[in-house]
Amino acid sequence: MRVLVTGGAGYIGSHTVLQLLRAGHEVVVVDDFSNAKPTVVGRLEELAGQPVPVHAFDLADGDKLDVLLAQERIDAVVHFAGSKAVGESVAKPLDYYANNIGGTISLLRAMAQQRVWRIVFSSSATVYGEHAPVPMTEDLPTSATNPYGWTKVMIEQILRDVAVTDERWRVALLRYFNPVGAHGSGRIGEDPSGIPNNLMPYVAQVAVGRREELTVFGDDYDTVDGTGVRDYIHVEDLAAGHVEALQWISEHDRAVSTWNLGTGRGSSVLQVIGAFEQASGRTIPYRVAPRRAGDIAASYADPARAERELGWRAERTLVDMCADTWRWQSTNPEGYPDGQD
Ligand code: UD1
Repeated sequence: MRVLVTGGAGYIGSHTVLQLLRAGHEVVVVDDFSNAKPTVVGRLEELAGQPVPVHAFDLADGDKLDVLLAQERIDAVVHFAGSKAVGESVAKPLDYYANNIGGTISLLRAMAQQRVWRIVFSSSATVYGEHAPVPMTEDLPTSATNPYGWTKVMIEQILRDVAVTDERWRVALLRYFNPVGAHGSGRIGEDPSGIPNNLMPYVAQVAVGRREELTVFGDDYDTVDGTGVRDYIHVEDLAAGHVEALQWISEHDRAVSTWNLGTGRGSSVLQVIGAFEQASGRTIPYRVAPRRAGDIAASYADPARAERELGWRAERTLVDMCADTWRWQSTNPEGYPDGQD
């Protein structure tokens, strides 16, 4: 297939681009580089051993999308593009709704216009909201606790509604748990701008000496050691899930499919610290602080549906995830370079 990957220069998008190419697809990337460095493109081409066509514009530009979908003869879209910082979304809700939802609407209009009916959407386990029982199954009700999360809930609904309008639509909603890790080469990985919001990049920056200590948000949860429990999934396993989902929706007649992508195993913050210390040989200094607003005690997937239907399962362990994060972070302590690589 000829696959358009929106947000293909980002963390999960870039890993998925490589796996799509490896599976024999042709890939075209659209990314506005609002949260990605242009140097990732050269690294992708180096790893892929072939040129990766990239178009730098905002999805809001519907005319450009129409032209791109038509000229490139696109068969399917994998849609990652969107803003994803929870705290920022609370401060700037309108920016989040405009960018994430506006971008998706513009994309879906262009797809319908150009008769492109297959879309794999980057959703999140955040749609299970605050009170979901674990392990989380796909049929739980959806809700959110912040504007970022609501954009995921709303985009899922928009996709379900749009899928009714033409019987050719095939939609995959992929609910990611906590993506971490990096490509085994250490050449591409997660490069958050500013202070990392998420645990693994923060731990990695402490290990490499960019930050002094980790703050552990709460040790009084009802969990194995009192710290928050999450289902960390290697970004390479996650990327493989996209390739399988795309294949599946191309071969089956179900209009909308929802799949959890997680390992089904939960790890606490202290277990992550321990695994990272083991993988890196570095000590991670930390101090315990109060809980972070909006956090839940435990989140992990029931991945049975993806395993049953897609034949996909996450293979890599927490130590693999830490080792690959560390290879990326230690060889790129400041992330991707700004200018020439
Ligand atoms: C966060 C978002 C979620 C989003 C996901 C993917 C919040 C409240 N949730 O999920 O909506 O879909 O990222 O980007 O931001 N922790 C620390 N110290 C830190 C950072 C995190 O102790 O410096 C703890 C957290 O309390 C949590 C665990 O580590 O228990 C994982 O946190 P994080 O990586 O931010 O992911 P989520 O909160 O699961």
